[in-house]
Formats: sequence, C-alpha cells, structure tokens
Amino acid sequence: MDVTEAVMTRRTVRGFKSDPVPEEVIREIVEIARHAPSNSNTQPWHISIVSGGARDRLEAAIFAEMKEGKKPYPQWPPGGSGLHGVYKQRQRDCAYEYYDAVGIDREDKRARAQLATKNWSFFGAPHAAFVSMPDTMHRANAIDIGIFLQTVMLLMVERGISSCPQGALAAYPGPVKEIAGMPEGNAILCGMSFGYANNDEPANQVRMTREPFDVVARLTS
Ligand SMILES: Cc1cc2nc3c(=O)[nH]c(=O)nc-3n(C[C@H](O)[C@H](O)[C@H](O)COP(=O)(O)O)c2cc1C
Repeated sequence: MDVTEAVMTRRTVRGFKSDPVPEEVIREIVEIARHAPSNSNTQPWHISIVSGGARDRLEAAIFAEMKEGKKPYPQWPPGGSGLHGVYKQRQRDCAYEYYDAVGIDREDKRARAQLATKNWSFFGAPHAAFVSMPDTMHRANAIDIGIFLQTVMLLMVERGISSCPQGALAAYPGPVKEIAGMPEGNAILCGMSFGYANNDEPANQVRMTREPFDVVARLTS
C-alpha cells in the first residue's frame, strides 16, 4: 500500500470487532508516528492508549460520571463549538449521513443522544487512545497533534486497522487522567477508538463527501 491509497481508503469507523490489535503492532505504529514533524521540533504530543481491563475500567468510569449528571468538561473548547455558515451546514450534513445510515430519525433527539453515548463506549473498539499536549500551549501547537494523529491513522490503515478520531473523548478528562495516565499538566485534545472494523455495522456504511479542489485550494503563479 502506498500513501495515496492509505489516504484514500482511510475512513472513520464506528463499529469494531472485539479482537485486539497485538501490542507489538501498536508499539510499532507509535514508534514510526513519533517521527512526524512539529513546530520547532517541540513534539508536544503524548498518546495514552488503553486496552483490555484498563479500557473497560475507563469506559465504566466515564459512564459513572455521566450517570452522576456531570456535564462534559473538556479542557479546550471542542471543535464542534463556534461553527457558523457553511461549516455549521457541513456539521449538520455529517450528522444526518450518520443518522440515516443507522436508521435514526433526524428529529428524534432522544435516539440521537443515545447514539452519541456510543462515543464513550469507544464504538465497541478494543482500544482507545487519548492525544494530549501541555495545557500551557496554544491552538497553533494543536497542528502538531493533528499531524501526529493522522500519521497514526494512516499507519493503522496500512496494517488493516481502523480508527475513529473523537473530539468527544476529550469531554471527561478526569477518568482518562486517572486510568490512562498522561504527563502532569497535559490536556486532552482528541481521542481515538481503534481496532478491526466490523463491516456489518450499519454505521460503517457511511461515506463522507469532500468539497471540490477549487473550494479548498487556489493556485497562483
Ligand atoms: C478532530 C476530529 C474529531 C472528531 N470527533 C468525532 C467524534 O467525537 N465522534 C465521531 O463519531 N466522529 C468524530 N470524528 C470523525 C468525523 O466525523 C469524520 O472524520 C468526518 O465525518 C469525515 O469522515 P471520514 O473520516 O470517514 O472521512 C472526528 C474527526 C476528527 C478529525
């Protein structure tokens, strides 16, 4: 597989088989991804990965917080906030694609909320990752985290592993810090569930579209 194929075949997966990814494969992916570029080579990324019992304890701890009535308390403003115009429209289209694929009425707020909770059961994935950087850094540094995360996801594609990047996994940082652990003073930007895709899962039939070249680029000479 070449890079082009990896980029073109990666897609967000929201339904996984229970089979775990061997630890040596996870290690190899991170070992390679740490060569990603960053501003002034600061390498602000840190990735905490939970599997097995730790994954299950974390899921239970997050759901316990939600049951207590705790509202999400992400340490950075979530990416879905502050959207307007065409960006708001794309967010809506994205959600509707997903609701349609899983057979949920677009107006059924209860079913939508229930569907959203699947984020915190990692869509059934055997592994969840949390990408963090020092909370003293600025949003420009988040570019480095994004580059790192995409590098991880493409290396996963190359190995037949699917992933779901999830801003939602930044919503309950308390249990993540306690169970997954991360450097003192770090704050989570994004999480990611990963494992082997369950192709029978209706949610995995979603194919998101992209804006054409002329909307996203301008070449001048
Ligand atoms: C930073 C980031 C955060 C995301 N957060 C979520 C999330 O919380 N829950 C979710 O189901 N999908 C999430 N996604 C997946 C996007 O919805 C998905 O990437 C987008 O619709 C494009 O689809 P594709 O990845 O299949 O090409 C996120 C993606 C990114 C890059």
